[in-house]
Amino acid sequence: MRKYLVTGGAGFIGSNYIRYMLNKYKDVSIINLDKLTYAGNLENLKDVENDPRYEFVKGDIGDEAIVDELIAKADVVVNFAAESHVDRSIGAPDDFIKTDIFGAFVLLEAARKHHVDRFIQISTDEVYGSIENGSFKETDPLMPSSPYSASKTGADRLAFSYFVTYGVPVIITRCSNNYGPFHYPEKLIPLFITNALEDKPLPIYGDGLYVRDWIYVEDHCAGVDFVTEKGEPGEVYNIGGGNERTNLEITDYVLRKLEKPETLKTFVKDRPGHDRRYAVDCSKMNAMGWKPKHDLTQALDKTISWYIDNRSWWEKIKSGEYLDYYKQQYQS
Ligand code: NAD
Ligand code: TYD
Repeated sequence: MRKYLVTGGAGFIGSNYIRYMLNKYKDVSIINLDKLTYAGNLENLKDVENDPRYEFVKGDIGDEAIVDELIAKADVVVNFAAESHVDRSIGAPDDFIKTDIFGAFVLLEAARKHHVDRFIQISTDEVYGSIENGSFKETDPLMPSSPYSASKTGADRLAFSYFVTYGVPVIITRCSNNYGPFHYPEKLIPLFITNALEDKPLPIYGDGLYVRDWIYVEDHCAGVDFVTEKGEPGEVYNIGGGNERTNLEITDYVLRKLEKPETLKTFVKDRPGHDRRYAVDCSKMNAMGWKPKHDLTQALDKTISWYIDNRSWWEKIKSGEYLDYYKQQYQS
């Protein structure tokens, strides 16, 4: 029985990953360490909460005592825990430094002490910064431009240093923009689907011609599992969806699908330091025999249906904490 410590497992990608792993493998046990910030939601894991192979522990990855105790029992650590929203990092970077960098440090120290088999650091394509043409390879320089991506870069390189300096078997993944069920409705796709369902304006930053490469969350989860099995310690792996779209293309698709009027499109003040385009070169993963399985249109349709069918999940979120001040700050 392989023992996993998954951090940030009550968030969007972490909860999808836990479900994916419990479905795929009989012989795994998973401890989910999550602080339950505004983005952590145990409802995301209702269907697995009674699985005897799964345990939830509420706690902070920056808390040395709890991390030490849990990593002592783990074979594999997968660190998803992070503050993850660029707009919030612009309003208040503090927690990004504390969780994304210091939290990763605490985990790495414990991994070093307890000799884990693998430490998977979930990084992001945002560490490379923006690229006008072409795509970034794993060996390209990192030029993050938001406090979020800079914090993630700190953790990414700190994790690498623990491989080089102490031999901790670290693997780093840099994935593109995810979408799918349980995505917190402050990010583009779930915000626009849910706003459209409520006949509310869809706030498009700047000219809407910013480009992201979209990957269905299950493909990301499969990619993380793939590198855990087949990846080499000390290596970085880009994981991309191969689906570049402008924000306006995504917006138009959502509106058409939900049969909502174009007039919901609302151009608002741009995000400061907004990266024009993200793109990763995935030839390294492709050469190892991995590629994403989901087609953007079909998986986006499935995602839209999920938000239609799970209205109470996102209505609860949107009626509370969601309407916070960081968000409103950039939408006047
Ligand atoms: P999310 O915001 O939905 O979830 C983050 C989770 O981490 C939440 O459950 C939260 O409670 C938990 N958390 C936050 N601070 C913590 C702390 N100090 N201790 C323990 N738990 C804490 O984020 P997500 O979109 O699921 O992203 C997960 C990871 O994947 C992040 O590391 C993010 O940088 C990375 N990533 C995300 C994307 C994307 O498109 N969402 C793309 C590439 C990489
Ligand atoms: P987001 O989902 O925040 O992901 P990231 O910034 O990490 O890529 O945003 C995706 C794109 O959508 C990005 O170019 C910013 C833009 N965007 C809007 O135009 N309006 C919004 O309300 C949000 C949340 C994002």
